Amino acid sequence: MNEQRPLIVRALQNEILERPPVWFMRQAGRYLPEYRALRSEHSFLTMCHTPELAAEVTLQPLRRYPFDAGIIFSDILLPLESMGAELEYIPGTGPVIRNPVRNAADVAALKDFDPIRDLPSPMESIRLARAAADVPILGFAGAPFTMACYLIEGQGSRNWPETKRLMFSQPEVFGALLNRIADAVGDHLQAQIDAGAAGVQLFDTWAGALTPDDFRRWALPASRRALARASGAPRMFFTKDSAPFLPWLREVEADAYAIDWRVDMAAARKALGDVPVQGNLDPQALHAPHDEIRRRVKQIIERAGPKGHIFNLGHGITPDIDPAAVGAAVDAVHAHRWS
Ligand code: CP3
Repeated sequence: MNEQRPLIVRALQNEILERPPVWFMRQAGRYLPEYRALRSEHSFLTMCHTPELAAEVTLQPLRRYPFDAGIIFSDILLPLESMGAELEYIPGTGPVIRNPVRNAADVAALKDFDPIRDLPSPMESIRLARAAADVPILGFAGAPFTMACYLIEGQGSRNWPETKRLMFSQPEVFGALLNRIADAVGDHLQAQIDAGAAGVQLFDTWAGALTPDDFRRWALPASRRALARASGAPRMFFTKDSAPFLPWLREVEADAYAIDWRVDMAAARKALGDVPVQGNLDPQALHAPHDEIRRRVKQIIERAGPKGHIFNLGHGITPDIDPAAVGAAVDAVHAHRWS
């Protein structure tokens, strides 16, 4: 029965649908007062590592909005902690790694990562959220290049100078590091699929810091290597600032491509060909009047067309967004009908 399969599963199989399914990156998070209330009692890492709390936070946006999928509450950097990174989340600064990786010895000292042994909480969270939710639950991981950026730099950065220093001056070390991370996150994606994730998304948030040549040499093959280790559910690939890479993006061999808001959806379709796409409302458009939000939602849906489109933002929701604006956007997607 086609109609009984969830809309997001059908979109990920590139079917023609009467409306696109919708979920938002960072739909669980600080823009929600109920998240902030729970977060005031627990550290971010405690919330990630406690399946009951992580599942509860995953469900919070699903109670408020008719999202067509939940994304498990966790963070891309947790596997790095298992591999030996001293990870902290500092309010106002974001993630910090106290012992950044800068040379061959640091890479060699990284521990192997077995998701079931070293990081069971996301899989248990998926099981709990799945049992309680009416919609499919998605898993995720960070792409190797984006993970390497934090691991080498030790914190977020505008230009990633240490990352590029290592990439340019010790390419063998940099390549070995990407491979180690690719295998870890690939196994993490597989474990989440095995735990019941209906799909998984690989986030290459910072690949846009690379030239097209460097993207093709480093980020792209590392993400392909990670995705190739996971099967059994659709694998989505997100890059921010993806416009310069569109001609080669499909070489990553994902099942669907999540596009940031700087690319016109019709142009993305043209560049990517016949493959499911996800996106791509400007997250800051949620500050617009609701009529303008609805106009932009409709325009993106029309440009994407009825086949294999998952409505999403072009990047995560920011903490300053009014929850009512999220409702306006989600309702506008639900109101759409391809006739
Ligand atoms: O999308 C979801 O709702 C699921 C949960 C999720 C989080 N982080 C929760 C989170 C997902 C999918 C991520 C991915 C993630 N984490 C990425 C890739 C996607 C992107 O948004 O670019 C990256 C680069 C990270 C690393 C990370 N984690 C950063 C930079 C920060 C700090 C952000 C900030 O503004 O302080 C985090 C912390 C984080 N991850 C929070 C949440 C809800 C905020 C933590 C808090 O409550 O203090």
